[in-house]
Amino acid sequence: MLPVKLVDVVKTFTLPAETQEQTVIDGVSLEITASDSVAFMGPSGSGKSTLLNLIAGLEQPSSGQIFLGKDELSGLAARERERLRLQSLSYVFQFFHLLPTLTTLENCALVAIEQGQRGIDEIIDETHTTLKLLGLEGAAHKRPGQLSGGMQARAALARALVSRPKIILADEPTGNLDSKSGEAVLDLLFEQQRERRFTLLLVTHDESAARRAQRTVRLRDGRLLS
Ligand SMILES: Nc1ncnc2c1ncn2[C@@H]1O[C@H](COP(=O)(O)OP(=O)(O)OP(=O)(O)O)[C@@H](O)[C@H]1O
Ligand SMILES: [Mg+2]
Repeated sequence: MLPVKLVDVVKTFTLPAETQEQTVIDGVSLEITASDSVAFMGPSGSGKSTLLNLIAGLEQPSSGQIFLGKDELSGLAARERERLRLQSLSYVFQFFHLLPTLTTLENCALVAIEQGQRGIDEIIDETHTTLKLLGLEGAAHKRPGQLSGGMQARAALARALVSRPKIILADEPTGNLDSKSGEAVLDLLFEQQRERRFTLLLVTHDESAARRAQRTVRLRDGRLLS
């Protein structure tokens, strides 16, 4: 778990074909306590993914500050930021971003190996245990292309869990699933959040998914509502 704090964060983009600057995140201040699960909701284009990318350090704010625990992201050198991201954060994407040429087992073990904190045998053991926990024991040696959408979503979640993150950022992890598979993935996500106690930031369009979180934060045109 890791608290997250945003202080007056602004993000502007200028598209190559345009001269006008577009303000995508418009002065967002927000405190998320370590034990929180937070749902981010808002219309398409309201800045939800951008906000998650800023928190993950994948984008730099145009102004303002973002703290992960005590670390202020823009105060860190790029290498330190990368290290913090690798050791503390996991991202679950809408399209899962599993590497197509690797097996599920390899996909899930890769980040943990890259972290360099644990031996390979231990990581492989933990990966098998996690896959089993998520009902994917039969998928360990299959490639993502051989898995259903729901299985790919669970594999993406398994990959996130194996790296033992302090924060999981999930950007519409069930956006491409039928409602039954989506429910199953959310059940697992929130069950694991309670058990492993990571901070959970979940972007969703689904009110019932958002109700599972302790808090809902609503965005409109890059600003927080209320
Ligand atoms: N790298 C970028 N370069 C330029 N503009 C961008 C970039 N990333 C996002 N934007 C713009 O920022 C705005 C917010 O995008 P963002 O993807 O954060 O919205 P969102 O709330 O996640 O929407 P959705 O629900 O459709 O995923 C959009 O107008 C988008 O075009
Ligand atoms: Mg988005």
